[in-house]
Amino acid sequence: MWNIPFVPPTASEEGVSISILYWAITALAVVFGAIVLFGVIYLAVRYRADNNAVDRSNAVDSDLRVELAWTLVPLVLALIIFGWAAKLYADIYAPREGYYEVFVIGKQWMWHCQHPNGVRENNVLTLPAGRLVKASIISQDVIHAFSIPAFRVKRDAVPGRYNAMYFTPTKPGEYHLFCTEYCGTKHSEMIGKVIVLPEEEFQAWLEKGGQGLATATTSTGGGAAAGGTLTLAQQGEQTFKALGCNACHMNPNSAVKVPDITQTWGNDIPLADGRTVKGDEAYIRESILNPGAKIHKGFQNLMPPYQGQVSEEQLVQLIAYIKSLADSGTGGN
Ligand code: CUA
Repeated sequence: MWNIPFVPPTASEEGVSISILYWAITALAVVFGAIVLFGVIYLAVRYRADNNAVDRSNAVDSDLRVELAWTLVPLVLALIIFGWAAKLYADIYAPREGYYEVFVIGKQWMWHCQHPNGVRENNVLTLPAGRLVKASIISQDVIHAFSIPAFRVKRDAVPGRYNAMYFTPTKPGEYHLFCTEYCGTKHSEMIGKVIVLPEEEFQAWLEKGGQGLATATTSTGGGAAAGGTLTLAQQGEQTFKALGCNACHMNPNSAVKVPDITQTWGNDIPLADGRTVKGDEAYIRESILNPGAKIHKGFQNLMPPYQGQVSEEQLVQLIAYIKSLADSGTGGN
């Protein structure tokens, strides 16, 4: 009876720290719960109505030492938990360096994952063990939440916004992948799995285009699908050309004066209204869908908006392409 799975396995570095915090809070709650429970029982018995052995005259109704103790002790404990939890929160959600990046797109009702080398997977996410992973998460319809209990991480997939989450898988194996935000009729079917492979096996798997995995990737939720031989950035270049972006951008003979997109990624972009924005995923995405929102200083609002004409998959490819032009060397990959 002792192998009942009360908690999921712990399979990430961050998960270990979060589990320790979780059990520390649980232990505190049990200790204080026990103090209150036994206090209630003890007082109820000792001061029961027919107990004439206790002296009820001159009852004490306040004691500053007791008041201070039960105010300051919980305050200090709560502040320690706050600082501890804030540190773990920052580990998962604050930007970190040296990661392997995957793009996750939530849609009704499946998870679509893309690797930088072009491999795509549906309802399966294959990751290397022992490496920091950045998941860039977005939704193409309603709000979903990307949750991997074994890693103790989750993040909302919000339409129109890239949300990042960082974690380091430690143990090779298969883990649950859930949507933990009610997103419509088939929310409960929006499940999949995360497969963690040892680094060398993962590299071999990536090079084979996501094929030939010994484990059953073809079971529930569909298997890995190779994205051909093109990397994500190369797919982006094709999309770039297919949409005709190259008629103005990346064309030295263009009659239209356009900002140099090789200088977009990772740089500070001066805007016509005097503000400066960072050339990140959010800026590139907005500038494709709604170019008029943030006009580059010195340029006019000439580009047609692509809202409704490019899919989230294509946006992820285009961003990877523009990132590759800059070749800034930031981040992992
Ligand atoms: Cu997607 Cu619930």
